[in-house]
Order: sequence, then structure tokens, then C-alpha cells
Amino acid sequence: MVVRVLVVPGSTRTDSFSKKLGRAAAAIVKEAGGEATFVDLRDHAMPLYDGDLEAAQGLPAAAVSLRAVVKQHQAVLFATPEYNASLSAVLKNAIDWLSRPYAAEPGVSVWKNKTAGLLSASPGALGGMRALVHLRQVLMNLGVLVVTEQFALGNATSAFGPDGGLVDPKTKASVLTVVQRTMHVAERLSG
Ligand SMILES: Cc1cc2nc3c(=O)[nH]c(=O)nc-3n(C[C@H](O)[C@H](O)[C@H](O)COP(=O)(O)O)c2cc1C
Repeated sequence: MVVRVLVVPGSTRTDSFSKKLGRAAAAIVKEAGGEATFVDLRDHAMPLYDGDLEAAQGLPAAAVSLRAVVKQHQAVLFATPEYNASLSAVLKNAIDWLSRPYAAEPGVSVWKNKTAGLLSASPGALGGMRALVHLRQVLMNLGVLVVTEQFALGNATSAFGPDGGLVDPKTKASVLTVVQRTMHVAERLSG
């Protein structure tokens, strides 16, 4: 079975390190025999969650489209930046909108029983590892099976080559460990 992995960076910035790490991770998914879809949250721009807006108009179109994309994948690889020791607001906002009921489908149903792997990237030495603690907690509360393996890419300014690939083989191996475990668990949960 070919595992379909959605790669979701938590930054909309054009030169985002999270996006670079997400693209590198997508290539590693393909090398590992999976299918990878890269999502740019800028292409799914949503307003900040507002209960009045939801009551009046339902889910924004961008949340409906992203929801449909998530449903087509067995696994999700997140690559988040760290903002003030937590995940980015843009990623949390997207997760929140997608946790809401839609049509006949109950809240959180899109996330429940998905498998996720966690990555982060930062120009700082710690690589955003504190954001991963919060992201893991949020996802597990939604019923996502978050694999134990995770990777925080520190010193991200010097981590990528001109082709966008990860320069250090050890770094690539760390991402591969997360990818392989995520695909392994997703395959068994889907079987
Ligand atoms: C509001 C704000 C808070 C930040 N807090 C942290 C932090 O807690 N830890 C960290 O490593 N970097 C922090 N940074 C720096 C980000 O890691 C850096 O801007 C990074 O490039 C953002 O991710 P991106 O490259 O994927 O867009 C912060 C940046 C901003 C704008």
C-alpha cells in the first residue's frame, strides 16, 4: 500500500524555513515509497476563528478546501515554526477551523485516527522543539496518533543547499526516521 502523506508547513512566508523543511520532507516521503502532497497555508488563507462568523457563514471556503485535502491523506507531516515557544498562530488557526463540524460530519472527525509526524525549523539552536510539545498536545486532543519520533531543525539558515535539499546527511536521516515511522503507523492503521 502506498501511504499518502500531506505535508503542512506552519508558515506562509515565501522563504520560510518550515516550508523548506516541508519540501525536503516531501522529497524524503517519495524516496521512502510514499506519496506526498505539499500544502501552502497561504493558498488556504482563513480568517481568524470567530464563532459569530461561523454561526453566520459556516466554515470559510479555504477551510472547506483544506478539509477535503486532509481527508484524502492517511498521514500528515507538520513542519512548524516556533513563535514564543509555541506553534504558529496560522497553523493553530487552520487546525481549529478544521476541528469544527461540517455538513453532516461531526467536529474533529477530519483529524480523528490520522497519523502525524512532527517537524520544526528555526534559525535558533533549539530548532523550535518547544513548539512541538504544544503541537503534539493539540493534535492528540483531536484524536491524531502522533508518532513518538520527531525532529527540530536548528540553525536552519545554513541547513539547505541551493537545490533546497538538506545539506547534512545526519539531518536528512533524522527527517527520514520521522517519515518512516509515520508511514509505517499510517499503513497499519489503514490496513
Ligand atoms: C513573534 C515571533 C516569535 C518568535 N519566537 C521564537 C521562538 O520562540 N523560538 C524560536 O526559535 N524562534 C522564534 N522566532 C523566530 C522564528 O523562528 C523565525 O522568524 C522563523 O524564520 C519563522 O519561521 P519560518 O522561517 O518558517 O517563517 C520568533 C519570530 C517571531 C516573528
